[in-house]
Amino acid sequence: MSESQSPLNIGIAGLGTVGAGVVKMLQQNAALISARCGREIKIISVIAGNKNKDRDVDLSTYEWADSLTAMAQDTRLDVIVEMIGGSEGQTKEFVEEALKNNKHVVTANKALLAHHGYELAQLAEKHNVTIAFEAAIAGGIPIVKSIREGIAGNNITSVYGILNGTCNYILTEMREGERDFNDVLSEAQEQGYAEADPAFDIEGIDAAHKLALLGAMAFGVKPDFASLDIQGITRLTLKDIKIADELGYRIKLIGMARQEGVDYIQAMAPCLVPKSSAISGVEGVFNAVQTQGDFVDKTMMEGRGAGEGPTASSVLSDLVDLAKGNFVPVFGVPTNQLNTAQWQGPENLTCACYINCHVKDEVGVVSDITSCLKENNVSMDSLIQKGHEQDGSKNIVIVTHVASYKSIKQAVGSLANLSNVLDSPTLIRIENI
Ligand code: HSE
Repeated sequence: MSESQSPLNIGIAGLGTVGAGVVKMLQQNAALISARCGREIKIISVIAGNKNKDRDVDLSTYEWADSLTAMAQDTRLDVIVEMIGGSEGQTKEFVEEALKNNKHVVTANKALLAHHGYELAQLAEKHNVTIAFEAAIAGGIPIVKSIREGIAGNNITSVYGILNGTCNYILTEMREGERDFNDVLSEAQEQGYAEADPAFDIEGIDAAHKLALLGAMAFGVKPDFASLDIQGITRLTLKDIKIADELGYRIKLIGMARQEGVDYIQAMAPCLVPKSSAISGVEGVFNAVQTQGDFVDKTMMEGRGAGEGPTASSVLSDLVDLAKGNFVPVFGVPTNQLNTAQWQGPENLTCACYINCHVKDEVGVVSDITSCLKENNVSMDSLIQKGHEQDGSKNIVIVTHVASYKSIKQAVGSLANLSNVLDSPTLIRIENI
């Protein structure tokens, strides 16, 4: 290490699980990080809501900033590490102030970037700094670097991901333990995987924030969270998970962004994936991202999608880059080269689907169901009947051939109106990835 190299001076705002993890990692691996960067990464100041909370880390050598504004304006700092969270209000103002004061920002805040990433990237460019967000997508998996640099020579045609550890943990536990949704959700909250408001996890919003950023980087377009079709996992039942298993599939919450000719399609929804696929084996709190490039073909990275260590690891990846003087435009290309994509929803796909109808077991019910499918030009690949519950009802489960998803949805809409169909049928896309 050169004696003359000055440290990279940083301020850390937010000392929750991840913020405290960054401090621990910088302390524990100080020597190797300095060696790899050729200079020290030095924490100058910190700030958090509660100064006296026990965080199981030594903060005694750092200054406490008086306010977020004071930290953003502190002329000694090169980088602000934003670990506060939230897409609006004080967090957004803090990041804007830091950028205006010519400081790079390192963040795990996918919500902020999914909603305001384009404008913030413009502000960063104006001040010749960047916003680095490896920690915002898929915890410890270095997927931002992979897309932005590792496979940057490819025309990337699709990105698929399991992007929320809480959902994947819930789905895995439901299947393996034959447990109910709510029971497993409470456990995920106790273990600290779920967001403070678990609706963000289970309704698919957290994963959709990440998908919007992946799509932007993969295709060189502006992130467009507003146009994303989002379904979470709250309607999935143990019964669907078990039937899917019998049919040779796992149910996973899958984020998908695809380029189809001049169109771009993005969706976040539970999907059936074949048990033989690599992504189906990604279990528990793990995340995975699979990309397809025209020269490299498929790549898949898997790792822990949440928690102190993995997320801190990604923050350090960005800090090491900045310490080495490596920084690039926020989404890989300058904002004036980011196109505006006309994103389409999944109704523009052709795919096979799983349909589960809870029906009265009476004369003609199968015939009524198949008529609805026929009227919408949807062909069945298989049909099975399940249960004979005490009330005499049954589940009729259909796997369709590949058809227009729009037509399948219309058919399912007609099924819901049949007098012998008891509940709104479950419709899940099958993704052969
Ligand atoms: N709550 C998220 C998850 C981690 O469960 O994956 C942070 O995005």
